[in-house]
Amino acid sequence: MCGIVGYIGYKDTKDILLNGLAKLEYRGYDSAGMAVLDEETINLFKVKGRIAALRKRTEDTGLATMGIGHTRWATHGAPSADNAHPHQSASGRFTLVHNGVIENYQELKEDYLDGVAFGSETDTEVIVQLVETNYERYQDTAEAFRQTISLLRGSYAIGLIDREDHETIYVAKNKSPLLVGLGDGFNVVTSDAMATLKETDQYLEIFDQEIVLVSRHFVEVQKLSGTVVNRQPFTAQIDVSDTEKGTYPHFMLKEIDEQPFVMRRIIQEYQDERDRLKLDQDVRNAMKACDRIYIIAAGTSYHAGLVGKQFLEKMAGIPAEVHVASEFSYNMPLLSENPLFVFISQSGETADSRSVLVKIKEMGHQALTITNVPGSTLSREADFTLHLHAGPEIAVASTKAYTAQIAVLAILAVDTARAKGMKLDFDPLQELAIVANAMEVLTDQKETIEELVRDNLGTTRNAFFIGRSSDYFVCLEGALKLKEISYIQAEGFAGGELKHGTIALIEEGTPVIALATQENVNYSIRSNVQEVAARGANDMILSMKGLEQDTDAFVVPHVHELLTPLVSVVPMQLLAYYAALHRDCDVDKPRNLAKSVTVE
Ligand code: F6R
Repeated sequence: MCGIVGYIGYKDTKDILLNGLAKLEYRGYDSAGMAVLDEETINLFKVKGRIAALRKRTEDTGLATMGIGHTRWATHGAPSADNAHPHQSASGRFTLVHNGVIENYQELKEDYLDGVAFGSETDTEVIVQLVETNYERYQDTAEAFRQTISLLRGSYAIGLIDREDHETIYVAKNKSPLLVGLGDGFNVVTSDAMATLKETDQYLEIFDQEIVLVSRHFVEVQKLSGTVVNRQPFTAQIDVSDTEKGTYPHFMLKEIDEQPFVMRRIIQEYQDERDRLKLDQDVRNAMKACDRIYIIAAGTSYHAGLVGKQFLEKMAGIPAEVHVASEFSYNMPLLSENPLFVFISQSGETADSRSVLVKIKEMGHQALTITNVPGSTLSREADFTLHLHAGPEIAVASTKAYTAQIAVLAILAVDTARAKGMKLDFDPLQELAIVANAMEVLTDQKETIEELVRDNLGTTRNAFFIGRSSDYFVCLEGALKLKEISYIQAEGFAGGELKHGTIALIEEGTPVIALATQENVNYSIRSNVQEVAARGANDMILSMKGLEQDTDAFVVPHVHELLTPLVSVVPMQLLAYYAALHRDCDVDKPRNLAKSVTVE
C-alpha cells in the first residue's frame, strides 16, 4: 500500500517521479503528491485522486534535479490533498513521504510535539515534525533523522529531503518494502523496481532498521547504530514490456490472456533436462521431513491455498490446513511436532502474512514462501522460496498469480510424493500442458462470456456462486473477483450449504452461477441448482466437457479432475471483467483497494 519514488541526479526529476508513480499506482490511488527541490526551494504538489491529476497539477513546474513522490492508500485520515504525502515540518524545511503505519504516533505527538500545529490527520506527519524538533537539538539532519527513526514503532518506508541540503535523500525502512536503484550520476529510491526500470536495473536491498543516505554519486547504507554496511546490488529481472498494457484496454484482460503462457513457463522452470521435476533439494527435504503443513495466505492466495491443500493431502499424503493470515495469531491451532509453514503470496509483501511469518520464525519453525516476487519480504525472510514465474501482475484483481500458485502447488505436491517414494498416476507437467491449451480455448471465448454477462449480470445487485468439492473453492474466488471489480454483492457457497440459510436471499431473477466440473458431485450440484431455480433464481451452470448437459450456459474443456480449478476460474475471471466493464467500473483500480496490502 502506498508507493514511493525518489530521484537525485542531473535530469529533470518531475517526469521520472510521475512515470514511476504511475507504475506504482497499483499500490494505492486515492491521492498523490510530490516535492521537488530546485535551486532555491522545495515545491510541493498534492492532489486528491490519481497520478493523472498530479501530472496536470505539475505541468508548469520548473527544472529540479531531486525530489520525492508518493501515491497513497489512506490508513489514517481520509483521502484528501491535505492528507496526501509529502508532508512538511512546521517551518517547511523538511519534507517526507511514508508508506506504512506508525503505531505509536499518538504517544510521540504527546511526548515530543506539544504545541506543534499539524496540517493533516495522518500518522506520517508526526515523523517529519519530529525530524524538525530533533534538528533543533542536534543541528545535523542525518542525526535528527536517525534519532527520529529510532523512536518509531510500526512499519515504514521513508524518504526525506531537507531544503538546505541539495545532495541527499534520507531513507529508512522497517517492514515496508523499499529499494535504492543505482545509476551513473544519479540514484533512485522506489517501493518496487518496476517503477524505475527505465532508469536502472541495478538495485540495493534495504533491510529493516537501516538508514540510507542517497546522493547523486554515492549511496551509504547504515545500521540504526551508525555502523556502515557493505552490500552488493542485484539486477532486477523484469522485462519493461511486461509492465506495459500494450494493445490491451486493461491489465486485467492482458493478465487473464497470459495464463496459458504462464503455465508453459512454469512447466519449463520446474523441469530439468531429463524432463524430471526440478525443485531445490532443501525444499524437498523440508517437505519430506514435516508432519503437517500450515498454509498461510490472504484473499485470492488463500483461495489458491484451499486448492493446494487438496493436492498435498491427496497426492503427497501430508495433512494440511489453510489459514487466513490475519486470523492466525488469534486462532492459532495446536501445532504438530514438526510443522512446515507455507506462505502463499503474489506480492510477497502482505503484512498479515508477514506478521505470521515473524511469529513462527520466533517459535523456531521453518517456512516456505510461494511468491511471484522472489526478492520480496516474505521470500527473504522465509527459509525457502518457490517462484511463480507469472511476470508482474499489475491489475489489482489477481488472476494469473492465482493459477500460477495452484500450478506450483501441484508440482510441489507431486514432487514430495515422488521424494517419499509414492507411486502416482499423474504427470503434473503433462497435465499442466493440457491445462495451458484449455486456457487458450477459454480466452478465445470472450464474446460468449460477454454475452452471458450482458444477459444475466447487467443490472443485478447480487449474485451467488455455488459448487461442491474443489468447485466450491473456485466459487469463492469467482465471487471475490466479481465483487471487487464490479461491486456486485457476490458470495461463493458450498452447494449443500445454501439451503441452510442463504437460500432465503434468492428472489425472482437472482443470478446463481453453479460450477459442475467434478464427476462425483455432478448430480448433487445439479440438484442444488434445481432448488434455487424452483425459487426463481436465474441459474447458469458452468460445466466441464464430459459432464455437460444441453442446458448448461458454458462448458470448459476437459482437464485432469484435480486441475479443474485452473480452467474453471478463467470464465469466472472473464465474467467479473465484463461485469465491471458493463458497469463502467475502473477494472484495474477498483475503489478502496490496493494491490499490495502492506498494512495489517
Ligand atoms: C484479490 C487479490 C487479493 C490478494 C490478497 C493477498 O484479487 O488480489 O485478495 O490476493 O491481498 O495478496 P498477496 O497474494 O500479494 O499476498
